[in-house]
Amino acid sequence: MTTVLKLGGSVVTDKDEPETVDERNLSRAAEAIAAVDEDIVVIHGGGSFGHHHAAEHGVSTTDGTHDSGAIRAIHGAMKDLNEAVVGALAEAGVSAVPVHPFSAAHRDSKSDLSVSTDRLATMLGEGFVPVLHGDVVVHENLGATILSGDEIVVALADALDADRVGVCSAVPGVYDAEKTVIDRIDSFDDVADVLGGSDATDVTGGMAAKVRELLGLDAPAYIFDIDGLDEFIAGENPGTRID
Ligand code: IPE
Repeated sequence: MTTVLKLGGSVVTDKDEPETVDERNLSRAAEAIAAVDEDIVVIHGGGSFGHHHAAEHGVSTTDGTHDSGAIRAIHGAMKDLNEAVVGALAEAGVSAVPVHPFSAAHRDSKSDLSVSTDRLATMLGEGFVPVLHGDVVVHENLGATILSGDEIVVALADALDADRVGVCSAVPGVYDAEKTVIDRIDSFDDVADVLGGSDATDVTGGMAAKVRELLGLDAPAYIFDIDGLDEFIAGENPGTRID
């Protein structure tokens, strides 16, 4: 049994304070993850660490940079956050190890993403919990672009043949028009109206893009908030199930 879990940047950081970890949420998440006794890969977002550096340097998932200083600034901030996340997990007794996508992933000239999944499979086989993060990655013809944690989730879920995927975010699930959490989504058409249509283009955030990507996975995916994390870890169905 393999689980892929993303901790959104808004969960593990204080989004309004530059480069500030949300210690309370992070230790809650670490305690929850410590209860997992099967394979799990953790990915965290950028929150108040990565996004402002990316914006400052005009780098996005599609706008690249050849400025190595910009790459070091974005990657450096994400490494700092990763160290905090890995540290909190270790303190909770998790066999967490850092994996930095800048050194383990790239995009080709068609923007297709490659991630060294063999290395992650070996880590899992040896009992480690790899902890990846949204990052900046080299991108053929564009220099370097942003790789969001959500993109990593999608790439790893299928490559590692995950059984369950969890996206722990700032909201308790996908809301309908009345702001009630939708239990289950199995087709984008059913929710296109409430999510703002199928042509929404944002890939580093936004519920429409998240749902569309998660619908494409083999494994069931769940979107929930920090209050749903224990339930997810226990194999229950918090928030919105997407399959
Ligand atoms: C963004 O990752 C990473 C950088 C800006 C370097 P995500 O897009 O996954 O981050 P959150 O979860 O939305 O904060």
